[in-house]
This record gives sequence, C-alpha cells and structure tokens, in this order.
Amino acid sequence: MLSESFLTELKARNDIEDIVGAYVQVKRRGRNLVGLCPFHSEKTPSFTVYPESQSFYCFGCGAGGDVITFVRRMENLDYIEAVKFLAQRAGMAMPEDGYDDSLARLKTRILEINRQAARFYHQCLISPVGKKGLDYLRERGLSDQTIRHFGLGYAPEQWDAAIRHLLGKGFRMEELIAAAIAVKGSRGQSYDQFRGRVIFPIIDIRGNVIAFGGRVLDGKGPKYLNSPDTPVFKKSRNLFALNFAKAAKQPALILAEGYMDVVALHQAGFANAVATLGTSLTAEQARMISQYAQEVVISYDSDGAGQKATNRAINMFGEIGMKVRVLKVHDAKDPDEFLKKFGAVRFRMLLEGADSAMAFEIQALRQKHDLAQPEGKVGFLKEFAQFMAGIRNPIERDVYVTRTAQELGVSKEPLTQQIDYIIRQQAKHAEKKQERNLTVFAADTKGRRDPQRNAHLKEALAEERLIVVLLKNPDYREFILDQIQPEDFLTDFNRAIFRVICDRLAENRSIEPISLSEQLDVEQMGKVAGILADSACSGATRKEAADYIDTILAGKAKKTPEELGKMDRRQLEEYVAGLAAKKK
Ligand code: GTP
Ligand code: MN
Repeated sequence: MLSESFLTELKARNDIEDIVGAYVQVKRRGRNLVGLCPFHSEKTPSFTVYPESQSFYCFGCGAGGDVITFVRRMENLDYIEAVKFLAQRAGMAMPEDGYDDSLARLKTRILEINRQAARFYHQCLISPVGKKGLDYLRERGLSDQTIRHFGLGYAPEQWDAAIRHLLGKGFRMEELIAAAIAVKGSRGQSYDQFRGRVIFPIIDIRGNVIAFGGRVLDGKGPKYLNSPDTPVFKKSRNLFALNFAKAAKQPALILAEGYMDVVALHQAGFANAVATLGTSLTAEQARMISQYAQEVVISYDSDGAGQKATNRAINMFGEIGMKVRVLKVHDAKDPDEFLKKFGAVRFRMLLEGADSAMAFEIQALRQKHDLAQPEGKVGFLKEFAQFMAGIRNPIERDVYVTRTAQELGVSKEPLTQQIDYIIRQQAKHAEKKQERNLTVFAADTKGRRDPQRNAHLKEALAEERLIVVLLKNPDYREFILDQIQPEDFLTDFNRAIFRVICDRLAENRSIEPISLSEQLDVEQMGKVAGILADSACSGATRKEAADYIDTILAGKAKKTPEELGKMDRRQLEEYVAGLAAKKK
C-alpha cells in the first residue's frame, strides 16, 4: 500500500490538465476543460476535466476518475504501473517498500520464462528432435531466414520437455504455470501446454515474448492452440507481428486472419501485415491499428466466415473513423495460398486495386438479391438507399448512386429522392432521441451496462447521491452507518464503492479520488467521477442523506412480482403487514 503523503505528492506533481493535455486537445469552458473523448469515438466533446477535483469524466461513455485512472486507461496499465509511470514522469522515486510489488515481479519472471521458452522451441526446431516441424514449415514454403526472423519453433511430442528445460534454468513450477507454459493436470501432475506443434511466438511492440500460438502437424486436437491470457498477455489487446509491422512504417496495415498468412506476407515483402490471435477483431485491436496506420486493408479468408468477419471489421473501423479498404483474394482461400499460387507481384496488384469498404458492402448487398428478377431489384434498391443514407459525404453518395443506377439500368432521380427522404427522417429521429436522452440523461449514461441499476433506478440514484454525500462529508459516516449498511444497497456496483469508502474512513484513510483508485477498478472510478460530476451543485445535508437512505431501504423492502410469486401465504401476510406498519 502506498503512503498517503506519497500519493499527495504524486498528485501535486502530475496536474491532471497537463497529463490529459498530452493526449487530448482540450478547451477551457468555465472552470472546466472539455475535449473529444479519447476512450470512445465522438464528434461533439463530452469529455470533461475538473481541475478543482483533479478528475475527469466523459458524459458519453462513462469513463472517468483521477489522474491515475486516466493513465491506466490511456496506457493500458495496472494500478501500480500507472503510479510508476506518473512517478517517473515527475522525477519521483518510488517508495522502496510499503507497496505490493509481487505482480510486477511475477510479470518480469514470466517474460524471462517466455524468452527462454521461445529460444528452447526454436532450438528444438533446428535440431533432430524438431525435424518433423522444420520439414513442415519448409514444405509450406517458408525460408530459413523467415523461420529465424519470426523465431518459429517446435514443441517436442513429450509431456514435459519444456518444463524440464525451464526448471533446469531455475524457474519454479508455479511460475511456469502462471506463464501458461505448463498446465496443471487434474491429479496434480503438470505437463507442457504445447506438444508436437510448430510454435509461433507472439511478441509485443517492446520486443517481449508475451505468448505463443501452436499449430498441429498431424491433425490431432485443435488446429491452433494459443496461450490463454496471463499476467503479461491479453489476446484482445495484442496483434501478431505488430512489432515488425510497426517498424515497417507504412501508411497502411494489412489485417489478415491467420499466423501463416502473416508470415507468408512478410516473406513476400509485405512487412505491414498483422493478424488477431485466434479471436475476432476487438475494439482495442482496432484502436491499436489506428494508432500505427492511416489506413487498414482487410484481407481475410475468401470463405463465408471471412466475409462475415470482414463486415464486422468494417463496422468497427468505421466507428473509430479509420479508413478501410478490402482486399479479396480470388481462386485461393487465403492470402497465404494466394501468394503460393500467384506470387507477390499479383498480390501487390490486388493490394493496389483493393476496393474501398463502401464498394465491398455494395457488392455484398447485391449478392443478397436476385437482380435478374424485378422483386430482387426492388429489394436491393431499398437496402441500397438505406445504406447510402448512412453516408455523410454527399459527393461520395452521388458517385455510388450514379454508378449503381447505371449498372442496374434504372433512373437516378427517384433513387436520390428516396435517399434524401430517409436522411430527413433519420435527422428528425436523431433530434428527438437527443432530447429524450438529455432528460433521462442520468439514467442512461452510467446505467446502460448495468441491468441491476435499470431495474432499481430510483434506489440506484439514491445510492449514488448517498455516496456523494459521504464523499463530501466524511464526518457523516457514523450518522449514515447507524441507519444503513453496504448490504442494504440494491446494486452490487454501488455497494462495492460504498463499502470501500466506509472501510477507508473507518481506518482513517483518505477518500480522495487519487486514494480510492488504489482499491477501485477503472470502471468503478468512472462511476465515482460520474456521480461527482452529476451532482456538482447538489447540497449535501444530513436531511438529504436520511431521505436517500429511506428510499434505498424502502426499495429493498419492496418485492418484485417474481419474488412475491414465490412466497407462501404466511410470508405474504407478513410482508403486507410490514408495509402497512411502515405507512403509519
Ligand atoms: P493454416 O491451415 O496453417 O494455413 O492456417 P490458417 O491460418 O489458414 O487457419 P485458419 O484460416 O483455419 O484460421 C485462422 C486463424 O484462426 C489461425 O491463424 C488461428 O489464429 C485461428 N484458429 C484456427 N483454428 C483454430 C483453433 O482450432 N483454435 C483456436 N483457438 N484458434 C484457431
Ligand atoms: Mn491458411
């Protein structure tokens, strides 16, 4: 645990305006600053910095908290890493002890293990035990240079070859399990995660080996096996070969589906190719790609699944405003096969002619309908109009409308009128929605991911206000706790926050945001910042606290229809009697 004096100094030396200002362009508005939120895509600023409380909150996505929370989110760090980041920036020494460094130490150990494991697998590949693996990779057309460049390896077909090797290097079995190199069996014995597979090390942009992917040779078990998430690895936050692709410094990145596609592409001279790690694209990965390139060329498999994944990826990149093109390989199932069949020059031609995402989507729409039939044509044009209405730029819209009308042999004017009509309807709808949103604002922003909050909205709001009252008046603690306990809260989320605050007060510890962020995660910090931002002007008297408590307790006593349905006669009578007693 860090000392309060250390945190106070850390906060004083890392003004939230400076820290946020390094990532976000903010403008002063009254006492606060506003800008476009770095945590979700938006066109009007709802991201607010409160210099007075040294906190931030986004009214659009609910991200919020203190300066540590901001750095955690922005740099993908855990709590202690974020503290170190800020301490370093301010030229402060971290306290030698007094905080729990065990996670940081474990991470360092796991990275060492991974590096040694990668070396071991590679040595196996180029020695007799790995002949099968090496033959396989060469068979698939990889040069020795490519194999070395990617550090590809082979995991021997034994239960514990890697384990024995790494134990011999002085690592402990628990560490190997934490690194997911070893798997604990049901009867206590441990065995290698990867056996009889060729190995693709996954390396992050700092050059650390963070995980592995392994492909079978003989078709036993899943085709690809990936390391599970570990303290140093999150599948959803990393991309295969981004370390090389970043160094290639190209304006575009190529996004492929598989390890083999990426390796083959790099070998063929396309060092800007990356792939997800056995999962579909996540929002975090899309954001990472947008950090390193102005444009992404999606080059997924040509099968149905690949097309679906392409549509999904187009939407995700669209959301963050990233330019997308789609490269479709013909007469081959994926880029790897294409390169083998037709060579790098042909691939380069495909790449240069890759359709914009728009053309791809129009093409996909056309394929859904039988354009030879009148009904098919009408169906297509309806969907096409709907799709075009979603395009902001009128010139771009006109290009596609003109071309499509020509290709279908229909006149352009009615089509344009239809599209304009849809756009007007959508604008009206959006305006209404915005009005509605403003009125139920408090209910919506923080609650949309919390069904409990939506189910008990009135009580949840009372819980939040009570938390604000307590944050503003720590001396009410006893008064409040005399009447209500964390267990009485109806939403788990608010209960956890309330409990942390009460516990800290009981131990005489600070409840400033910067101190709370030690125990609350980034979501909870967002909530705290949100409820503070929401009620900046509401007073906070004991009377109000008592009212909020009444609301919560009354809500707790109320039963839902389902709960009532489950009661027997006697329980029901007691319940009704209880309600009547309260009324008096
Ligand atoms: P090759 O047959 O080696 O050319 O593989 P590929 O890359 O063409 O494989 P495929 O198109 O079948 O899969 C694409 C990617 O999905 C792979 O690179 C893996 O990351 C992942 N993947 C494929 N099969 C599995 C599996 O069985 N389990 C998991 N977790 N991921 C898989
Ligand atoms: Mn393939």
